[in-house]
Amino acid sequence: MDASVFLAGHWQRRALFCPQALDAAAWTIEPEDLLSVAMEDAVSARLVTRNEQGFVLENGPFAEERLDDLPDSAWSVLVQAMEVWEPRYHGLIALFDFLPRWRIDDVMISLAARDGGVGPHVDQYDVFLIQVAGRRRWSFGGPVSRLVEGAPLRLLSRFEPEERIVAEPGDVLYLPPGVPHDGVALDDGCTTLSVGFRAPGLVDLADRLAEAAAARWQEEVEEEPRFTDPGRAPADDPWELPGADVVRARAILQDALDDPALVARLLGEQVTMPRLPPPPPEDTTDPDDLARRLAGGARLERWSGSRLAHHDLGSGDGMLFVDGEALPCSPELAAWLARRDSVTQDDLHECPDAREACSLLAELVNRGSFGIAR
Ligand code: SIN
Ligand code: CO
Repeated sequence: MDASVFLAGHWQRRALFCPQALDAAAWTIEPEDLLSVAMEDAVSARLVTRNEQGFVLENGPFAEERLDDLPDSAWSVLVQAMEVWEPRYHGLIALFDFLPRWRIDDVMISLAARDGGVGPHVDQYDVFLIQVAGRRRWSFGGPVSRLVEGAPLRLLSRFEPEERIVAEPGDVLYLPPGVPHDGVALDDGCTTLSVGFRAPGLVDLADRLAEAAAARWQEEVEEEPRFTDPGRAPADDPWELPGADVVRARAILQDALDDPALVARLLGEQVTMPRLPPPPPEDTTDPDDLARRLAGGARLERWSGSRLAHHDLGSGDGMLFVDGEALPCSPELAAWLARRDSVTQDDLHECPDAREACSLLAELVNRGSFGIAR
């Protein structure tokens, strides 16, 4: 389907089942490779099994003995952020380049035995469910019921799906936020990739507003917008917090939100927060040292978990967002750098400003977002 047709008719609105939309063989993963990631210390992974009482959730990382001891059927191992552990999944993310990269959260992979699943639930985020091995029966749609109380998973207490399909390798099911769904594995080795999306909520944005405002006025404390009330009338009731004061406070907040640079900063910082923090750099550098190393044949490689985005503030000012932080630079350089997986001396020849690039890259190396490969 043409991207604009999908975006107009389905994105955020309606489910879409696309049989044989991609080459499953290109994106599948050996069960042992997925399970070995589920044992990594920094992993975000879940194991869902079932007993007489219902679903049982265990959180990873898992010991090898636990994964060796799975029942014959009805289990699922789900691993988040697989693109960090297996960088080839960035190639899968690239298939969604009709949407901004910042919108993508991660590639989750679930491996299930026959009858495995996580139960009927609703997600708050868009998701593309890509079947790459075995078959999975998806039931979806219908009303959203209350959640089962006290369950470890956020299960729906009633599920009356409107549609049922069986996804085979290569099939893709898109679900917008808020559509109840349940996927049950029909075969052992059932492998489903979920490309999930980010949609920052008010709580996160407000948190970031506080941080961005603190950074903005750190150096100019005297300039920080503050409550003022010249010409106020004598108080009738000195214990009252008058409505007019609420209006004055609201104006301070509103003025902050009317500052596009501040809002760009808080949004960019929030949506480039990495799923895993970058590894501490093996090697630190400075701009001159880095320029020398690149000239000597070194190659910089972006860490597989780093998230970058660029923004043009106008009037020649730009911002590069990297792993939850904003770095001011020219808009051209920010756009050049945000999309790079690697940087060599040859690349620097094509870049808008090699000197500015080296100082920005040195900063990124020192933060662990890029590494120096020899
Ligand atoms: C799964 O892949 O097992 C569950 C994914 C989902 O329903 O969000
Ligand atoms: Co779901």
